[in-house]
Amino acid sequence: MEKNRKLIIAGNWKMNKTVAEAVDLVQGLKRELGTVKEVDIVVCPPFTALNDVSKQILDSNIWLGSQNMSEHNSGAFTGEIAAGMLKEFSVRYVILGHSERRQHQRETDDLISRKLRAAHGASLKAIVCVGETIGEREAGETETVVERQLRGSLSGVKAGEMAETIIAYEPVWAIGTGKNATAAQAQEVHAFIRKTVGELFNASVAKRVRIQYGGSVKPANARELMSRPDVDGALVGGASLEIRSFSDIIKNSI
Ligand code: 13P
Repeated sequence: MEKNRKLIIAGNWKMNKTVAEAVDLVQGLKRELGTVKEVDIVVCPPFTALNDVSKQILDSNIWLGSQNMSEHNSGAFTGEIAAGMLKEFSVRYVILGHSERRQHQRETDDLISRKLRAAHGASLKAIVCVGETIGEREAGETETVVERQLRGSLSGVKAGEMAETIIAYEPVWAIGTGKNATAAQAQEVHAFIRKTVGELFNASVAKRVRIQYGGSVKPANARELMSRPDVDGALVGGASLEIRSFSDIIKNSI
C-alpha cells in the first residue's frame, strides 16, 4: 500500500561504539545506502561520537540524532546536554522518553513534555517513545497506558509543532528480547496512536505524524512490519549496530 508519509528508520545505538567504531559503522552505511531516497535514515550515536559521525555524514542522505537531551537550555545541570549544544553538531532528531530512560532514569511524562518543548524551541525533531510492559499488555491495559503516555508527554505542544514530531511505539517486552510485536499487533496500536493524536490535535496532524515501530526489528521482519498502513518506519536497537543488518532493514523496507 502506498503511504503518503515518508518512512523514517532510525538506529538507536544506545551505549555502544567507541568513536573509531562509530566512524567505521557510519562509513559502511554511507557505502551501502548512498542511493536510498525513499527513506529518512537517522543514526543516533552516543554523545561522545556525535562530533565525528556528524563530520562523516555531511553531504550524505543520513541524518544525525541524539538519544536524549536536557529540558533546560543552559546552567547548573551537571552532566546534562542542552538542545543548543546538539545543534552545534548538526543534530536534527532527538529521541525522548525511551523506555530505558523511563525505567533507569525515572523519566516521567511530565519531564518528557518539558524536554519536547525544549526540543521544539531549538527546532529539533523529536522521536517520542511510548509503549507498554508485558504485564500491562496481559492485563489488557495497552491502550490505557499508551494514551496516558501520549497525553502526558505531548501536553503543551502546539499542532504546528506536532506534525514534525515522530512517535515511536516500542512495546517494552519486544525491546532486546528477539520477540517483536507481530505486524498486526503493531498496526493495531499504531492506528490507536494516530486516532489519539487526532483527538489531541486535529485530523491533519494525525494524517501527517509519522509513527515508528521499535522492538526486535530485524532484516527478516522489517518488510512485513513496514507494509502496515500506520507503520511509518522503525526505531532499531541491536540490529542498527552492524552495517549489514541496518542496511538490510532499510533495503527490505522500500
Ligand atoms: P532492539 O531493536 O534491540 O529490540 O531495541 C529497540 C529499541 O529500544 C530502539 O530504541
